[in-house]
Amino acid sequence: MSNYHIKNLEEYFQVYRESVNHPESFWEEIAEENFVWRKKWNNVLECDFSKPEFKWFEGAKLNITENCIDRHLFARGDKTAILFEPNDPSEAAQHITYKDLSKRVNAFANVLKSKGIVKGDRVCIYLPMIPALAIATLACARIGAIHSVVFAGFSSTALSTRINDSACKMIITSDGSYRGAKTIDLKGIVDEALETCPGVQSVLVVKRINSSIQMKEGRDEYLEDLLLNVSNECPAETMDAEDPLFILYTSGSTGMPKGMVHSTAGYMVYTAYTFKNAFQYKEDDVYWCTADIGWITGHSYIVYGPLANGATTVMFEGIPSYPDFGRFWQIVEKHKINQFYTAPTAIRALAKENLDFVDKYDLSSLKVLGSVGEPINEEAWHWYNNNVGKRKRPIIDSWWQTETGGIMICPIPYVTPTLPSYATLPMPGIQPALMDENGNELKGNQVEGKLCIKFPWPSIARTIWGNHQRYKETYFSSYENKYFTGDGALRDDVGYYRITGRVDDVIIVSGHNLGTAPIEDAINEHPAVAESAIVGFPHDVKGSALYGYVTLKEVGEHRNHENLSKEINQIITEHIGPIAKLDKVQFTNGLPKTRSGKIMRRILRKIACNEMDQLGDTSTLLNPACVKEIIDGAL
Ligand code: WT7
Repeated sequence: MSNYHIKNLEEYFQVYRESVNHPESFWEEIAEENFVWRKKWNNVLECDFSKPEFKWFEGAKLNITENCIDRHLFARGDKTAILFEPNDPSEAAQHITYKDLSKRVNAFANVLKSKGIVKGDRVCIYLPMIPALAIATLACARIGAIHSVVFAGFSSTALSTRINDSACKMIITSDGSYRGAKTIDLKGIVDEALETCPGVQSVLVVKRINSSIQMKEGRDEYLEDLLLNVSNECPAETMDAEDPLFILYTSGSTGMPKGMVHSTAGYMVYTAYTFKNAFQYKEDDVYWCTADIGWITGHSYIVYGPLANGATTVMFEGIPSYPDFGRFWQIVEKHKINQFYTAPTAIRALAKENLDFVDKYDLSSLKVLGSVGEPINEEAWHWYNNNVGKRKRPIIDSWWQTETGGIMICPIPYVTPTLPSYATLPMPGIQPALMDENGNELKGNQVEGKLCIKFPWPSIARTIWGNHQRYKETYFSSYENKYFTGDGALRDDVGYYRITGRVDDVIIVSGHNLGTAPIEDAINEHPAVAESAIVGFPHDVKGSALYGYVTLKEVGEHRNHENLSKEINQIITEHIGPIAKLDKVQFTNGLPKTRSGKIMRRILRKIACNEMDQLGDTSTLLNPACVKEIIDGAL
């Protein structure tokens, strides 16, 4: 039996036990048998929770692009690696074979080199969902440059913060992007961002919408022009197992986003392994993950995991509602998609529309349906199961995080019996622990607590770029010798896990992880605002939406509240992006605070959720009177 591919429940339990009892030999065997190495490791795992420091396959040498591309060229050279489906259904899809991909990645890598990018340099990528995005990440990996992809929905301020935090030397962008019926001027956003990024020496511009844009002499060049002068062969740089592969920012409890650093070998092994098992990918399957490569889901399960398995991975440029709400299902029929991986927020949005949009397409190719990003509520689960899966296809509710690099808790389709709203069982190698209020691990079943992982796995993020102390404090200081996830979870009577949601100040809006602090910081920049607090409240499509409580300075008190709300949302859009806009803004004369001055978000959350009867004791507050006023003014 090979540990790499689990085929039935008995095998799962056997493999899981093995992975817990002998984690090192378990991962060693998987690494040895399924990847190409230039040199093998000296040591499978070095682990020190106190630093914290985790090293997997230390001493090994490899290049991830040889595993994702070169080694497939012989047997799968003419197989489609990336299947690109454009925004507009009338534009032809592109089938990029492994051979094409190899040439394009190598040529792109040579362009990077010609612009002076070397191993260890950071390159920011700010592109729409076009093939150049996947190719740019792989081109960086080819030469050992560290990519930092910034989701192209982020604003110029958010972009410049991320560029500067990791001192990127170059940014790769496009002359614009298509989004449904709209076009977006990405290059304009980049130009604005670069006004405050002195370290960026060059801008590569990919042509997509052929708009006339400003090109800054000596800084900006079209990728297409540079490609004319390079060869499409580029030797892969030899990388150490622990060399950083990429940085990806995620929001945190302060205004500064956290640049999560992922390593090369461990990340490769874990994403490839989980891709194979979580999707039960078979050689000729066509796999589609609807996420954007700007998020970890796209990194791990559009690019690296699928390509390491020689899969055909679909990249979709558009949105689920254009030209109509049948777009996803039309694509499933057109490309005979076998595995479909999406987010609950998309399912909820589509479930609101007429069922004809689904029923008119042939979805019989589908074998596996996936969900990721937030808890999938039962209603959405049943809609997905009834209408897309026709009650015959397993739904894999996969729980994981930017920090974990790959899927952590998830049913294995056709292996693990599924249960609505349960992520079910841990992947091999993953050892969850539920913790009680006193910091003790809750043993046995039918318990609920804070979710930790008590043993390292190969794709755990290694640090926060430039701030190891913050890494330690955020993830390793709450519980000794454990990684703390920030989520709550319960374990039912058979040992299945159900994720109950965040237990910190992160709010998941449409599957996007938003910290309250950066949004509050942005609002507080408005000259009329004295103070603000953001909480989440239930929303039927977004899962959670944002409710802002805003206290004005005296100067702002007489301003029209409607206009002020608009201005506040404008500032948020500029600082973070439209995803962080507030659905409700309530102006208050004060915010409930503890005696030490900390805003009691718990109370505000209850009011926003219309659970006024569950406020608990408010008498110990510094200013209990303001609670009544806030309830009276609640929206
Ligand atoms: C947070 C991580 C993992 C890629 C996308 C999000 C929530 C994610 C689930 C799920 C319940 C989930 C958690 C987690 N989350 N998947 N299947 N069930 N909650 O990555 O932006 O780093 O967010 O998303 O709260 O901590 P991310």
